[in-house]
Amino acid sequence: MKIAIPKETRAGETRVAVSPQVVQKLIGLGYEVTVEKGAGEAASLSDDTFKDAGAHIAAGAATAVKTADIVLMVNPPATSGSGALPGQMKKGAVLISQLAALTSPDDVAAYAKAGITTFAMELVPRISRAQSMDVLSSQANLAGYRAILEAAAEFGRGIPMMMTAAGTVPPAKAFIMGVGVAGLQAIATAKRLGAVVTATDVRPATKEQVESLGGKFLVVDPEMEKDAQTEGGYAKEMPKEYYDKQKQVVAEHIKKQDIVVTTALIPGRPAPKVITKEMVSSMQAGAVIVDLAVEAGGNCEMSKPGEIVTTANGVKIVGRFNLPGRLAQTASDLYAKNLLNFLTPLTDKEKKGTLAIDWDDEIVKGCCVTRDGEVVNARVKEAMGAKAPAEKKAPAKKAAAKKADDKPAGTSDDAAQDKGN
Ligand code: NAI
Repeated sequence: MKIAIPKETRAGETRVAVSPQVVQKLIGLGYEVTVEKGAGEAASLSDDTFKDAGAHIAAGAATAVKTADIVLMVNPPATSGSGALPGQMKKGAVLISQLAALTSPDDVAAYAKAGITTFAMELVPRISRAQSMDVLSSQANLAGYRAILEAAAEFGRGIPMMMTAAGTVPPAKAFIMGVGVAGLQAIATAKRLGAVVTATDVRPATKEQVESLGGKFLVVDPEMEKDAQTEGGYAKEMPKEYYDKQKQVVAEHIKKQDIVVTTALIPGRPAPKVITKEMVSSMQAGAVIVDLAVEAGGNCEMSKPGEIVTTANGVKIVGRFNLPGRLAQTASDLYAKNLLNFLTPLTDKEKKGTLAIDWDDEIVKGCCVTRDGEVVNARVKEAMGAKAPAEKKAPAKKAAAKKADDKPAGTSDDAAQDKGN
């Protein structure tokens, strides 16, 4: 079977769905691999490195996908306009990508109409067996790391304590809000750079994790936090009293912080506003806030999506999109490995280079979105029921599409809203 990897078309995207190493592995599994010309360029992966790994190079996306049995991507392909890919794929061909499937009913309808089988990587269940396929974790981990580097670059002072002949530089204070995958890596990175780190989360289980990384946990309300977590391990939306109390506790703490990284997310809900305008105005000039939740609405009231703003009191707020894309080679490498780990068990053990999909498998069921012209995923169907494809609302759809085009994908675009078991 043939696998194609088109160049990503979303504005600002630097990642590519395969690395040369993964191309070799796919060929080892018996597949023939074609990469679109220039697909890896923004991740410093030249066509020659892909050729050396055994891939064919196709001049354009249409050429790459039209004979492919499997298409691998980072972001959902365009489903309208001249660059739309699903209609150019063979009926029954398989698309494996982050699809933001729970929040993109029109795209999902287009996949079904094109008769392609789609797998949404953001919907891979977060069970032990699927850990190596978890694109949310692989990309969030890099986002957390990069957030600290972004903060360090914007911060006009040193981070570690330095005792020099000219005097002593005190260590910077870093505060991490939200201790999921990204937050944990932000804590670890800030510690490695020598910052004094504190962190907070609604899930009490994170206290021990913060402490094991050498950080100090900021407690808000242990009683209310007892019911803060879903069975799947995600944060629940908390009652208003909790958020009020959190604001009081954080307001006191944040005044003295130099670097604040926010990663607080609640699956299926807008990101909670954990930093108010008043808190920002209480901070010292030169302090930096990196808001990793901008793509889900932002954790800070003053963040501007895609921008770095400096407030009147001299606080910088970094609202960059797609932080994993700012580590394009590593992000592509890990993403490609996630896809390889997903594809390997779907490959026939005897007949090399052929798919033999167990449609009843928990992972397959969890992330298969369309098949044989139908939407087959229960969660996606439910989400589409609530938000039917807007066939007759062309202008609104166009505006939304433009907004999406303007917004480079982050760990997984709407995936932050999509995830959860
Ligand atoms: P996420 O990206 O959905 O959320 C980030 C963090 O924000 C979470 O820790 C959440 O509790 C926190 N948060 C939400 N509202 C907050 C508020 N008001 N104040 C402070 N913090 C707030 O989370 P992520 O990184 O996707 O991981 C969430 C959970 O999933 C964790 O328990 C993690 O261990 C688990 N997980 C399990 C995996 C597996 O079993 N394969 C893989 C990855 C994560």
